[in-house]
Amino acid sequence: MSTCLVTGAAGFIGSHLSSRLLDGGWNVIGVDGFTDTYDPSEKLARAAALSRHRRFRLVAGDLVDAPLESLLRGTEVIFHLAGRPGVRPSFRQGRLYHHDNVEASARLVSAAQGAASVRRIVYASSSSLYGNAPVPFSETAPVAPISPYGRTKLMAEKAILGANSIGLETVALRYFTVYGPDQRPDLALRRFAEAALRGAHLHVLGDGTQSRDFTYVDDIVEATVLAASAPVAGMAVNVGGGSRVSLLEAIEMLQRLVGRNVRVRHEPVARGDVRHTEADLTRARELLGFRPQVVFADGYAEEVAWVRGRLRGRAVSIARTSADSGLSKAA
Ligand SMILES: NC(=O)c1ccc[n+]([C@@H]2O[C@H](COP(=O)([O-])OP(=O)(O)OC[C@H]3O[C@@H](n4cnc5c(N)ncnc54)[C@H](O)[C@@H]3O)[C@@H](O)[C@H]2O)c1
Repeated sequence: MSTCLVTGAAGFIGSHLSSRLLDGGWNVIGVDGFTDTYDPSEKLARAAALSRHRRFRLVAGDLVDAPLESLLRGTEVIFHLAGRPGVRPSFRQGRLYHHDNVEASARLVSAAQGAASVRRIVYASSSSLYGNAPVPFSETAPVAPISPYGRTKLMAEKAILGANSIGLETVALRYFTVYGPDQRPDLALRRFAEAALRGAHLHVLGDGTQSRDFTYVDDIVEATVLAASAPVAGMAVNVGGGSRVSLLEAIEMLQRLVGRNVRVRHEPVARGDVRHTEADLTRARELLGFRPQVVFADGYAEEVAWVRGRLRGRAVSIARTSADSGLSKAA
């Protein structure tokens, strides 16, 4: 049985990946710093679900000072997903982005170099490296990130791919906007679904014609698992969903999924937001054997169903809490 380390295991993508690796027979050591980028109860719930599996071990800690040397003993593959995501806050929190994306990655690479068992690092890089390049983005195009987030992801990617020349196999997967059940709460598709189901306004930054190559989380996980053993090293590979959808099109789809018209409020375009993203998937097909399987309509239906269940669960627990407090007052 092989052992791997998943950094950011309590995160949105890291928890899906860990679960899939456990199903595939791996021993998984999950490391997560439980940073406060969003409600920590979401990360704790994912970690608790994974911890029910007997081949999963959770280590809570910051990669910058976690005992990586001992954790890496016997580990063959590192899936490095820990990081500080999000474009907009990166303009205000440069130091934190540098810590979680650049320093954490540098520390991991240096610990991996000293660990005899580690064969490969698969890194969760980002389409934000391309900035406003013409679509579709090819890995051979020059990179020009337009946000501190994108720049820190580029620095980390360079450090990781650089380690390929000194004995480690390293692959950087450039993920394109990932969505699906358990999506991060700051991302547009989840915010839209929550607002629509609550009957609130959807806040759209800009006119909504900007588009994204939305990638369903199971497809991202599949590509990430393939990258652990594919004959590819020392290079970046795009992982996209196979189509480009504008925010206005996503909202139309959402209206069909919730069965009613939604109310939209437009706000100024956010700094650092690129106009369009679209992955050229030639390299992913040829080197990883990856082809996305989930079309946007089906994937968003899954996410909206998950959001609906979550809101219902919350409504039930709030109702229970107020009933309880009513009873205790009467007593
Ligand atoms: N979600 C997307 O659309 C997307 C797109 C491109 C790239 N990515 C990259 O994929 C990775 C996972 O993204 P996500 O959406 O699951 O985000 P997430 O915030 O849900 O998960 C990241 C996890 O990393 C942990 N973490 C952060 N800094 C850490 C540190 N210094 N030490 C230990 N743990 C730390 C956080 O606590 C969190 O649980 C990130 O590196 C992100 O940059 C995500």
